[in-house]
Amino acid sequence: MRIVVTTEDEIAQLAAERYTELLLRKPNAVLGLATGSTPLRLYEELAKKCAAHELSFRFARTYNLDEYADLPPEHPQSYRGFMDRHLFSKIDIDPGNTHVPNGIDRSDTALANYDTMIEHAGGIDLQLLGLGLNGHIGFNEPGTPFGSRTHVVRLSESTRHANARFFDRPESVPKEAVSLGIRSVMNARSILLFALGEQKAEPLRAAIYGPVTELLPASVLQLHPDVTIYADREAAELL
Ligand code: F6R
Repeated sequence: MRIVVTTEDEIAQLAAERYTELLLRKPNAVLGLATGSTPLRLYEELAKKCAAHELSFRFARTYNLDEYADLPPEHPQSYRGFMDRHLFSKIDIDPGNTHVPNGIDRSDTALANYDTMIEHAGGIDLQLLGLGLNGHIGFNEPGTPFGSRTHVVRLSESTRHANARFFDRPESVPKEAVSLGIRSVMNARSILLFALGEQKAEPLRAAIYGPVTELLPASVLQLHPDVTIYADREAAELL
């Protein structure tokens, strides 16, 4: 596990270099992507580099971590909408190569199909993760089995509260979501975990130094052979 502590701007630049190197080496790389506030600067940086022809997503394939239940893709708070607005519309990716879990069809077949699609694509080369206040990765809340595959998640009250800032009313935050499972995340060849802001200091400390436990999903990353953690100084305060 490598830990890099620096500013949010530099995190975006360093991580963007990882994407540039990967896509030069493997233009059709499979990228695992995240939503939320944490990756926004990175997505800006990727869009900038793409506009400057420093990298290309022309052959890249992307699989997002999660999607809210029952929000159609055109809903402004759907993660599909988020990705289209903040990244996909700003880079040269083929929209047909971008994938976000289906929050409407949550049948066993649809859930299993998401993992199968990733496997058929050759597996995720680089998985981007943010960190939940309760240590979740993707929407895998505390208690999620480490062996989980793509599944329906009941969002914890703390997660719904944290994400209420994006919705018109707190009650509008969906109660469920579909998330890539922990096993699916751990199957990625390389993982980048971003942690920004003082609120992430305690979950980040516990994820790195605490016991490896399903009660703190991010602690599973201690078992992965290629994880880079990018933290700003506030999030790294307890390291
Ligand atoms: C988002 C996701 C979540 C977020 C986490 C942190 O796709 O899977 O795990 O990364 O909740 O959210 P922010 O970045 O908004 O603090």
